[in-house]
Amino acid sequence: MVVGSGIAGLTAALHAVASGCRVTLVTKDALEHANTRFAQGGIAGVMFDDDSAAAHLRDTLVAGAGLSDPEAARVLVDEGPARIRELIAWGVAFDREPAGGFVKGLEAAHSYPRVLHAGGDATGSAIERALVARVRAAAVRIVEPAFLRDLVVEAGRIVGVDLLVGDGSAPVRERIAADAVILATGGAGQLYAHTTNPPVATGDGIAAALRAGAAVVDLEFVQFHPTVLPGSAAEAPFLVSEAVRGEGAVLRDEQGRRFMLEVHPDAELAPRDVVARTIAEVMAAQDGRPVLLDATGLRPTRKQTTAFLAARFPTIDAAVRERGDDWAREPIAVTPAAHYLMGGVTTDLSGRTSVPDLYAVGEVARTGVHGANRLASNSLLEGAVFGARAGDAVAADVRSGAWPDPAG
Ligand code: SIN
Repeated sequence: MVVGSGIAGLTAALHAVASGCRVTLVTKDALEHANTRFAQGGIAGVMFDDDSAAAHLRDTLVAGAGLSDPEAARVLVDEGPARIRELIAWGVAFDREPAGGFVKGLEAAHSYPRVLHAGGDATGSAIERALVARVRAAAVRIVEPAFLRDLVVEAGRIVGVDLLVGDGSAPVRERIAADAVILATGGAGQLYAHTTNPPVATGDGIAAALRAGAAVVDLEFVQFHPTVLPGSAAEAPFLVSEAVRGEGAVLRDEQGRRFMLEVHPDAELAPRDVVARTIAEVMAAQDGRPVLLDATGLRPTRKQTTAFLAARFPTIDAAVRERGDDWAREPIAVTPAAHYLMGGVTTDLSGRTSVPDLYAVGEVARTGVHGANRLASNSLLEGAVFGARAGDAVAADVRSGAWPDPAG
């Protein structure tokens, strides 16, 4: 049983089917409505000859502020390229240069522009589409929409899920037995007033795991994305990808001062927690008013900047213009917003939790790769790498009945 339908859950389901499991996938909205489809910047991975796993590992550990698990981070960067190639084989068309090579993307705290993207700034949506199509074509039973009420525990092992099946008007309670459950329920951004996360990100998977007795850790490590179009009564907050700063956009206070220059040698491309904290301080000093993201100088003329922004960031460009702003002409107001939960259900390197027959993958899990601050575009990668590992492990685990001691 897989609960959740973002990159981690869908990948786990596909790998579990390939390793011989009969898989049921439960999702609380339509399959496509996971947080994955809102990921803009891309997926990080060592896909170029002049990049290296050592450099990606170093960047991951530095961004994690020394609190990552180095072994988990090593698995992430070593196995990342194979998972990215798998996504390509499954139909994800990452953006390419006219000569055929991948377009390189730079994001904060990366020492190399190793972020691949699709549709400019629609990477998550391209990945979600391809994986959903593959899962729908595979021998996976899909239950949608179905809310995870609880995990069912007997004699200390997980034996199934207790669901509310159907939409909000007349849900039906249903219990489905399972030899193993892979939680892929995502994060908890909706706990915050301002978040980039969609309505489904309510943390209920972590709550269910806690009630089942699973260990959780690092829940205090919540990442705030620095640059989000502020929400209002009429509009939800809207993410402005770090890739915009990777292309050269800068941050300014109300007076036009480029404040990040004084804070970190990498200025706007400092680790995300550094930038978000600094923006919060600047906002406090200007009575809570947003700071400004200045993308007006990305090309020599306004006309060229307009064309560049529309081509490179079509989704963001449309959202900015819908709000009546022309970001090629003047800087736009941005604030930080809750974005990603680094902590979660404690797992080993194959997604196993402290409760036998319960796995956790993706944002609901705490594999240890992100430490106190996730490196940009490592989240899709983590979902793919550890989703695959859990899917690969589950059949053999169920057959053997063994469950390694997570502390060992
Ligand atoms: C972004 O595009 O800035 C978000 C990417 C991420 O959260 O890794």
